[in-house]
Amino acid sequence: MEPTLEHPQPSPVETNRFTRITVVVPTYCEAENLPHLIDRLGKVREQSGLDLDVLIMDDNSQDGSAELIAARPEKWVQIVVRTQDRGLSPSVLDGMKRATGDVLVCMDADLSHPPEAIPQMLHKLEEGADFVIGSRYVQGGSTSDDWGFLRWLNSRVATLLARPLTSARDPMAGFFALRRSSFEAGHDFNPVGYKIGLEFIVKCGCERVVEVPIHFEDRLLGKSKLTMRQQLLYIKHLRRLYTFKFGAWSQLVQFLTVGGLGTLVNLVLLTFLLRLGLELKPAVALAILLSMVFNFVLNRRFSFGEAREPRWLKQFVGFMAACSVGAVINYVVTLLFVGMFGLRAQLAALVGIAAATAFNFVASRYLVFRSSHFRPPHDHVK
Ligand code: GDD
Ligand code: MN
Repeated sequence: MEPTLEHPQPSPVETNRFTRITVVVPTYCEAENLPHLIDRLGKVREQSGLDLDVLIMDDNSQDGSAELIAARPEKWVQIVVRTQDRGLSPSVLDGMKRATGDVLVCMDADLSHPPEAIPQMLHKLEEGADFVIGSRYVQGGSTSDDWGFLRWLNSRVATLLARPLTSARDPMAGFFALRRSSFEAGHDFNPVGYKIGLEFIVKCGCERVVEVPIHFEDRLLGKSKLTMRQQLLYIKHLRRLYTFKFGAWSQLVQFLTVGGLGTLVNLVLLTFLLRLGLELKPAVALAILLSMVFNFVLNRRFSFGEAREPRWLKQFVGFMAACSVGAVINYVVTLLFVGMFGLRAQLAALVGIAAATAFNFVASRYLVFRSSHFRPPHDHVK
């Protein structure tokens, strides 16, 4: 047989040239913003020549959004009125599944995300990125100045917590693009709350995450739907993502986090009990006991959530028994440090807690919450 001639490899740009782009826009009561969004997307479409269509995923807002879209001349804009499984993340996921483009873009409807950044985001995908974020926190990116300190802090803390999952500077962003093939490679989608982009980065195994700077404009019309409840859901979401990515390792991290919170509870209670005039010994003992109950509830719910049995009493007794040994260690060490080194009660309690924590994790993991229900650990964790 004739040896086959080597063909020149097409450049990555050519192999990745996209033919169609679907922009998925989750909406709830955004009728005021939609005309502006469509106008701006229309300009981008014209100027770039991109074959771009828009899929508005509306959670039955009943604010005239559906009528408004029906009356628009643009054939490339569609609205889906959803009545089930409501919420931002489920809407986006639903939209991604319905989308027909070979690139999927997600953005908010409130004009916080500049549609003008889309061509540049696509360019990054063409250059080989797996996931492109319209980012506030890379050089050149910014957010509106009238953002309150609390929201800024909240966003920063949330980002920090996602750090083990991705090194992106702005993984919380709701403005992102990925290849359809990446989306289809994803599995076990189970998003709660608002951080659907982060869900895709982790579950689609996107490694090359690239950020394009944007100016995040605070919404001018309508109001934000981000509630306290959504913020709390983020913790739940993070837990799922950690378990997905790190398997058994995430248990240790969660256990330590719970332990950290338990430490706070312990210290606050101890201070409180001492203030109430309780003697040192009963105060230390009671603070330990109550923080153990606190730790049990959180560990059963989070750290070892997969091994949770419906009959909580058995696990509670097991946990308390196993940790009693830890508690004795804690008690003895704490008193020892007060007596021998003259440490303040609170400082000594910290040392006691550290000693007990190591013991408790081993006992909890391998005795109390030992269960066949654990997810098999990921390959790379072994
Ligand atoms: N379908 C649907 N269902 N859409 C929703 C829902 C819902 O329950 N809740 C909100 N949306 C839509 C809004 O209509 C808007 O288009 C978009 O989701 C974002 O909602 P906002 O209420 O404007 O959220 P935000 O500005 O506070 O949060 C944005 O920035 C965060 C980073 O600071 C979002 O992009 C978040 O995803 C992002 O994490
Ligand atoms: Mn917004």
